[in-house]
Amino acid sequence: MNQPALIIHGGAGRDFRNARRLSLIRKKLNKILNISYQKLLTSSALDTVTFAVKLLEDDPEFNAGTGSMLQRDGKARLSASIMDGACLRFSAVINLENIENPILVAKALLGKTDRVLAGSGARQFAQSLGFKLADTRTPKSIRRWQKARQRDSDTVGACALDRWGRLACATSTGGRGLEYPGRVSDSGMPIANYATGQCAVSATGVGEEIMSEGITVRIATRVEDGMPLKKAFQKTFAAIQSRGYRMGAIGVDAKGNFACETTTEVLLYGWRKGKKQGLF
Ligand code: GLY
Repeated sequence: MNQPALIIHGGAGRDFRNARRLSLIRKKLNKILNISYQKLLTSSALDTVTFAVKLLEDDPEFNAGTGSMLQRDGKARLSASIMDGACLRFSAVINLENIENPILVAKALLGKTDRVLAGSGARQFAQSLGFKLADTRTPKSIRRWQKARQRDSDTVGACALDRWGRLACATSTGGRGLEYPGRVSDSGMPIANYATGQCAVSATGVGEEIMSEGITVRIATRVEDGMPLKKAFQKTFAAIQSRGYRMGAIGVDAKGNFACETTTEVLLYGWRKGKKQGLF
């Protein structure tokens, strides 16, 4: 049996430079990390990353689920993806409207033939499973939209290794904010959320730049080719830094080693393995 290992993030960016806000969000992240770790002690990596991301989606401080950024037309369109490293299976929803927990819909798609659904099709699928329609906007997210302000803390994510040695990851976002309706976020693609039998990686940052880098798949390939996870992160991020792109990522490997890198001012994340834990 493995020592379970969990790493989660609450986004990257300059918004976190405000010390009071940073301290509040850190507390919330720490609570979600510890509740989710308790779940991981008896559950699969897949169920745990779903659980952790759902909790992050439910907290309006994070840009996912309730309280997410709004697009140019004032609507919230949410994207989320999940990947089971044990069977190399990915599923996602893209630009889903009026559903509080996109990650639960993405998870429900894992067992289907059509595993990535967008827009109204994704919503119809969610409704067919009994998900209720809800307004995910909050007074704060509407005020921010009215002031035409983008938020730089863009995504939430989780990567886990369970007792049985299986890896999984999940990522969810409200997007960049003020984007053109129809924009596709990286968070609904494997490029931001990828797991194999050897590592699981979740990325956050500017979606277009994450897509251009192919970041998660690049890291996973390096690990598959024998590079230690930490080195794979460092090598990948050295190139990203040289291009001036803004993004961060977290990951865990099959031995329970964690890695994390960012080119942004702050990447808010926490990890736990047994009694050891860290919060940044
Ligand atoms: N990384 C989230 C987004 O750009 O949509």
